[in-house]
Amino acid sequence: MNGRLGVGFVGGGFITRFHVQSFVGIREADVRGVWSPDAGNAEQVVRLARDLDVGDCRAFRSIADMVADPAIDAIWICGPNHARIENVEEIVQAIESGRGTLRGLACEKPLARNLDEAIRVRDLAARVGLQTAYLEDQLFTPHVETGRSLLWARGAATTGRPYLARAAEEHSGPHTPWFWQGDLQGGGVLNDMMCHSALLVRHLLTRPGESLSTVRPVKVTGKIASLKWSRPAYAQRLRETMGKEVDYERRPSEDFASLTIEFETSDGERVLGEASTSWSYVGAGLRLSAELLGPEYSMQWNSLDSGLRVFFSRAVQGRAGEDLVEKQNAEIGLMPVVPAEAVVYGYEAENRHFARAFLGKEPARLTFDDGVGVVEVLMAAYQSAEEERTLALPVPDLQRFRPAVARGAWRP
Ligand SMILES: NC(=O)c1ccc[n+]([C@@H]2O[C@H](COP(=O)([O-])OP(=O)(O)OC[C@H]3O[C@@H](n4cnc5c(N)ncnc54)[C@H](O)[C@@H]3O)[C@@H](O)[C@H]2O)c1
Repeated sequence: MNGRLGVGFVGGGFITRFHVQSFVGIREADVRGVWSPDAGNAEQVVRLARDLDVGDCRAFRSIADMVADPAIDAIWICGPNHARIENVEEIVQAIESGRGTLRGLACEKPLARNLDEAIRVRDLAARVGLQTAYLEDQLFTPHVETGRSLLWARGAATTGRPYLARAAEEHSGPHTPWFWQGDLQGGGVLNDMMCHSALLVRHLLTRPGESLSTVRPVKVTGKIASLKWSRPAYAQRLRETMGKEVDYERRPSEDFASLTIEFETSDGERVLGEASTSWSYVGAGLRLSAELLGPEYSMQWNSLDSGLRVFFSRAVQGRAGEDLVEKQNAEIGLMPVVPAEAVVYGYEAENRHFARAFLGKEPARLTFDDGVGVVEVLMAAYQSAEEERTLALPVPDLQRFRPAVARGAWRP
C-alpha cells in the first residue's frame, strides 16, 4: 500500500466529480477506480482524475472487480440512494467470498432512504469488520471549523456554552430525476438536504474534541411543504426537464422543510437547533448558511458572501452554466462567485480526514453509526410533520416508518 490509500468510487455522477476535484489537496490518497452502470459517466471520472493528476484511475466492470483489485484500499459510495443496499451488499459479498479486502468504506449522505435501510447498511459493513466513514462535508467546511473553534475557545470558555445553532441549505432544485422521486430518493428535500443541517447544528453545539453523544437529540418538530414545484406551471416544467416519472401534480415531494431539534447536553442543559432546507430558493445559486449563538457571542456564515463578485451587463449573452457557483440560476448582473468550491463546501478536508482515518493516522470523526443517527432524526421529523406535533426520541417503531412522500401518498 506504500502508505497511501487507493480510493475507488461507486457512481460517477455529480458528487463523485466533486470528490475527485478535492483530491488535488490530499497528500495521502489517490483516485484509483470508478464503477458506474453508465459507462460514459465512469469515463468522465477517469478523464477528470487523469487531467487533475490525482491518481492512475480506471473504470471497472463491476463493484466486485473493484474490491478485488489490490490497488483499491477503500470505496466511497456515491450512487443514488435507492442503490445503497445493493451497492453495499456487493462489496460485502466480494469480501466474504475472499475476492478482495478493503480497509474502509465511506458512504455519501444520507446513509440510506429510511431507518431500516440505514441499519442494514451499518450492519452489513460491521459484518466484515470494515472501518466506516459517513460523508458529511459541511462539518468540514473551513468556515464552520474556524468559527466553531473560535467561539468555543473564546466565547464559551469564558461565558458559557452556546444555546442555539441554525443551519440552512437552499437551492432551486436537484440536477437528476431520481432525487425528485420520493420512492427512489426516500423523500423530498428533507431527506436530501436536512441531513446536512440537522447534523451541522448538533456539531456546532458540541464542544470541539468531545463526542456528538454529549449533545443528544431528545425532541423534534418537523414541518414540510410543497411551496413551488406542485404549482401546475412548475409541475409541467419538471415533467419536461426530468421526464414523465416526475409528476408533481400526482406525486409531489416536499420542496421546503424546517426542523427544530431540542438537545440535552451531558452537563444537563437544554439547547436548540433550528434547521431549514429548500428546493424552492431562487437566488444566485446554492446557499449554505450557519449560525451559532451563546450568551456573549455569535457567528454567522453564508456561502454566497464569498468575497468575490462579477458583473456582466445585459449585452453579455451568458450561456447557462455552473462556473460561478453550484446550482447557478443566472449569468448576468452582479453575481457572487464561489472559488474553490470543493474546499469551501468541505470536500477537501472531509476526504483528507477520512483518508487519514482509514490509514490509521487519526480516529474517524463520523462513522455509519452517525449516519444511522441522522436518518433517525430525519424519519422522526417526517413523522412529526405528518402528525403535526412534537415527538420525543426515541420514537417507537421508527424502523418500520416510511414517509408518506416515499410511499407516494403525500397530498400537501
Ligand atoms: N454531500 C453532498 O453535498 C452531496 C451532494 C450531491 C449528492 N450527494 C449524495 O451523493 C449520492 C449521489 O448523488 P449525485 O448527485 O452524484 O447523483 P447523480 O445522479 O449525479 O449521479 C449518480 C451516479 O450513480 C450512478 N448509478 C446509477 N445507478 C446506480 C447503481 N445501481 N449503483 C451505483 N451507481 C449507480 C449513475 O450512473 C451516476 O453516475 C446521493 O446519495 C446523494 O444524496 C451528496
